[in-house]
Amino acid sequence: MRNILIIGSTGQIGSELTRELRASYGGSHVVAGYIVGAEPKGDLLEGGPSAITDVMDGQHIAEVVKEYKIDTIYNLAALLSVVAESRPRLAWKIGIDGLWKVLEVARENHCAVFTPSSIGSFGADTPHDNTPQDTIQRPRTIYGISKVTTELLSDYYHLKYGVDTRSVRFPGVISYVTPPGGGTTDYAVDIYYSAVRGEKFICPIGKGTLMDMIYMPDALKAAIDIMEADPTRLIHHNGFNVASMSFDPETIFQAIKKHVPQFEMEYLVDPLKQSIADSWPNKMDDTCARQEWDWQPNYDLDSMTEDMLKHLREKLG
Ligand code: SER
Repeated sequence: MRNILIIGSTGQIGSELTRELRASYGGSHVVAGYIVGAEPKGDLLEGGPSAITDVMDGQHIAEVVKEYKIDTIYNLAALLSVVAESRPRLAWKIGIDGLWKVLEVARENHCAVFTPSSIGSFGADTPHDNTPQDTIQRPRTIYGISKVTTELLSDYYHLKYGVDTRSVRFPGVISYVTPPGGGTTDYAVDIYYSAVRGEKFICPIGKGTLMDMIYMPDALKAAIDIMEADPTRLIHHNGFNVASMSFDPETIFQAIKKHVPQFEMEYLVDPLKQSIADSWPNKMDDTCARQEWDWQPNYDLDSMTEDMLKHLREKLG
């Protein structure tokens, strides 16, 4: 990777991935792509070039790719699971019509492409414990359907046209810089904000509901390591399971309570979020990622909790 374009650079993952890649490759080698209404600000704007890159406008993306001699595209444009249920057509347009345009640009300009998949690509029929890399994927959310299609279409471009597509299935990503918007796993971010603000947390996910989660530094590491992996070792290309930690609301609540003893939580289950969460794995098996490109997370629940609370206390004063 030398010249990188991030589509969706101001979102939850994009805002931190752009900074991380600029620190490694130099600011001028990483273009922060954005859409009107979500412009980069501060160091994201000042740390390197930026350009409008709407996934609906392949021609414009191609111009940006040529101008900056881009060889790697991180395509992070998406609607998360809950919000996608209220706007299914838009979720498909961004996730799949947009992906098609990005893949065409990549094919014509010889770029590698990373388009994340998710735990949302699994469904109720998937084995929930130690979910294998290759297993049943029959999601019933539009988010999940678009993520399975993302994996398949990315593989198709790799096999048919030789485009170097690679990706991981992200667990719920926990971070303190840019909040996620409209996901089922967002509760595991919101709970830290409540704890630091001294508020009682109203948990929309029921007791005992296990989901895979990952701390942002590990999510960034996964996204970068897979793109730098030795291609001769890769058996899979798209949709690697990457596991890091799995917990239910009570477990994360107790982990926070060790640092914030007066913290309180109450359950008020959101039926849509709960039904989505119930259809996702309890815990994925990430053996293939570990074997094919040495995937290894650095954070567990306790080390993440310490770091999240420290940074959120600084951020929220
Ligand atoms: N974090 C996403 C969501 O909850 C899952 O990948 O929608």
